[in-house]
Amino acid sequence: MPAPTHWKGKELPRIISGMFEIENGHTLEVARKHGAYATIGPMLFDKSQFEMIELVKDSGLRGRGGAGFPTGMKWSFVPRGGKPVYLVVNADEGEPGTFKDRLCMTRDPHLLIEGCICTGYALGVRTAYIYVRGEMLPQIRKLNAALKEAYDAGLLGENIQGSGYSLDIYIHRGAGAYICGEETGLINSLEGYKGQPRLKPPFPAVSGAFASPTVVNNVETIMAVPPIVKNGAKWYRQWGTDKSPGSKLFTISGDIGRPGVYEVPLGIPYTEFFELAGGLQGDLLGCIPGGSSAPVLTAEETAKATMDYESLASLKSMLGSGAVTPFNTTRDPALILESIARFYAHESCGQCTPCREGTGYVDRILRKLVAGEGRDGDIDVIKDLADRYEWTTICAFAPGAAWPVQSFVTKFRAHFQKHIDRNPAHTAGRDLVAARPGAFW
Ligand SMILES: Cc1cc2nc3c(=O)[nH]c(=O)nc-3n(C[C@H](O)[C@H](O)[C@H](O)COP(=O)(O)O)c2cc1C
Ligand code: SF4
Repeated sequence: MPAPTHWKGKELPRIISGMFEIENGHTLEVARKHGAYATIGPMLFDKSQFEMIELVKDSGLRGRGGAGFPTGMKWSFVPRGGKPVYLVVNADEGEPGTFKDRLCMTRDPHLLIEGCICTGYALGVRTAYIYVRGEMLPQIRKLNAALKEAYDAGLLGENIQGSGYSLDIYIHRGAGAYICGEETGLINSLEGYKGQPRLKPPFPAVSGAFASPTVVNNVETIMAVPPIVKNGAKWYRQWGTDKSPGSKLFTISGDIGRPGVYEVPLGIPYTEFFELAGGLQGDLLGCIPGGSSAPVLTAEETAKATMDYESLASLKSMLGSGAVTPFNTTRDPALILESIARFYAHESCGQCTPCREGTGYVDRILRKLVAGEGRDGDIDVIKDLADRYEWTTICAFAPGAAWPVQSFVTKFRAHFQKHIDRNPAHTAGRDLVAARPGAFW
């Protein structure tokens, strides 16, 4: 079913997704008919690198990979005049519930390439990499075909369109590890090492790939750059809020009428977004607002939340990668968390003891708990474990693994207790303790 074009009488922005429903929009011929590569000429090359960075800063564009870091500011950290600068596009997309970047690469690979040229020019990049999750073969094929078309048309390679600017883009296939989406794990993997994150500082912008300044940006972030170059910062700011300008791709799955990928202006209420996506199925119990790492919201919190970085921060959650998962009252939050915890235990790269051991413990305790073998105290133990690995590790994987645990057991404690209460061995022991206090100890 085609995505809605209007909402509440207003046209929805199509900054990123304009080509998603155009037949053969992934080909250069069709993409060019719809304005692809219009920036690759005076629009871009008449600007200085400094002007490009200022433009992106003024637009307020924030990184769409999860952390929401201001893109122009990140670019301004890159030291000039020394080692070569690399651009790495993060197309690993491993966060459970997130499936937007893969659609971008299949439906509009030329906008991504155009974004790489604009960004590469702004940063003085000669070589860029697109790091794609290994399983995404259809995307890799589409990207390779699009790259060939762009090279053949003189849009990549030496002296692009006679501008004096040259750029080569290489596709690098990952091997399907969530941790290779973390920017320094990705850089290690790109260099041929084990995909394990590095200690920061130094940050990649100063010393990243091949010990050179490296900007890592998400697919969607890079795709937002050409429309900003074409139309200006003020145009981009007509959508969204002051601190979260523009539009964003959101993926929605769970108890919703029409799961899928939607581009909406930042700042709209979650409740409106649910209507846009075909309506909630059943009565809302809670919602994961931005990917599996984002702290879960209760139904009451979701009713207050708007889809922007500030609103989610005020509710102690986050917009993350934009993966929205509402669940209704027929669902069991303990089962949802058990599945999330299994994922994090499996994906920990194992370098840091608190993360490696802590996520494993939480996983094992939760598996027993949902199997009806839980014990009093389990809920506090897993919360305590998560508190301990939240900020004691090399990378942000561990806090991302801790937040769902902390939020689920705090906000839906009764659902976890129910599993403990159905453990016959344990409840029998409880009676004994009550009858003869001290007998067990
Ligand atoms: C465990 C982990 C996994 C991540 N996975 C991704 C990913 O798949 N794609 C992505 O763009 N960013 C991912 N990130 C965020 C990146 O480290 C980085 O912040 C991002 O690519 C920067 O791009 P942006 O500024 O355009 O958002 C991940 C972070 C962590 C901690
Ligand atoms: S926090 Fe976890 S995933 Fe990140 S480096 Fe440490 S062990 Fe690896």
